[in-house]
Amino acid sequence: MRKRSSRYMVIPLSYLAAVAALFVPWVLHAQPAESIWSGSYTEAQAERGAEDYRAHCASCHGANLRGDSHAAGLVGMGFMFLWEGKSLGELYSKIRNDMPLDQPRSLTKGSYEDILAFILKSNEFPVGDAELESDEKALDKLMITSRPN
Ligand code: HEC
Repeated sequence: MRKRSSRYMVIPLSYLAAVAALFVPWVLHAQPAESIWSGSYTEAQAERGAEDYRAHCASCHGANLRGDSHAAGLVGMGFMFLWEGKSLGELYSKIRNDMPLDQPRSLTKGSYEDILAFILKSNEFPVGDAELESDEKALDKLMITSRPN
């Protein structure tokens, strides 16, 4: 009877493992580096944003962010209907360039980021370790999705 050696099985498997290992960095790299679902703002930032929101946005969009017959709601299904699939960069530009409607671009830049953090918090997007910054390229990469993708 011929003796079957397992050597021929073992070598290709270890090659396979080595080849697979080569692809690991590539696969990790291919995934979106950041997501709105891995946390894009901090709690403290959202708290500052809540104050600024009250001072500069609530008169039209409502203290509960639900909006009214003129101004769109900034939470919940209505908000997701308008913003799902768009980037945080687009939302940031809209707020920074057009809001408050009666005095566009009147807030300090930091305040716009803080308010955006507050809007994210109000929509129950997760808190992260770093503050949201006005880096438009980075914000353009963060997509608004209703579930982690
Ligand atoms: C004087 C009233 C008024 C104030 C104050 C105001 N808004 Fe608005 N906002 C509106 C109206 C009206 C619209 C709808 C028309 C438009 O999109 O330009 C709107 C639209 C928006 C939109 C787009 C709506 C959507 O979901 O498509 C966002 C986001 C927004 N406002 C955020 C803010 C934020 C944040 C502030 C505070 C910095 C603010 N607004 C202050 C009246 C106001």
